[in-house]
Amino acid sequence: MRNIYLIGFMGAGKSMIARELERKTGGERVEMDERIETEQGMAITEIFEKYGEPYFRDLETELLRALTDKTDLLVSCGGGSVLRDENAALMKENGCIVLLTATPETIYARVKESKNRPVLNGNMNVEYIRGLMEKRRARYEAVADVSIATDGKNAEDICAEILAQPCCGR
Ligand code: S3P
Repeated sequence: MRNIYLIGFMGAGKSMIARELERKTGGERVEMDERIETEQGMAITEIFEKYGEPYFRDLETELLRALTDKTDLLVSCGGGSVLRDENAALMKENGCIVLLTATPETIYARVKESKNRPVLNGNMNVEYIRGLMEKRRARYEAVADVSIATDGKNAEDICAEILAQPCCGR
């Protein structure tokens, strides 16, 4: 089976849905942020602080490249990984890209306690989230094969919607 790449803003539910898909399909789950943290032996915040964002983005590209010879993966992608053309192309070539969306209010409620989201450092509020989300929206929508709104739905329903898509069927 082709890989499923879950994309979308921080707090859209990518990690939770990847775990639920893993439970349902038995595919292998890849949590990009976690993989990078393990490989670097550092938290995402520390990587940003020590080496800067472009370095982190390079690590995302490297990881996506390393996944291209695998199938059946359920990849929870970092929220910014798809902004780079090469990354989006790697995802497209190897699977189905599923965009998860949620309102800025929902996102804020989910991420407000997070200390490991450097992109939101010092800007943890609904208005900032709304603005950044607006900036990224066109990009997310352009690369996605499928888009799923998650507000008010449980993980079970969202997974059923994903697996009903022809490009995601298992
Ligand atoms: C980022 C999202 C984060 C993480 C990093 C940058 C972004 O991943 O990769 O903090 O630019 O949107 P999650 O979407 O899993 O929080």
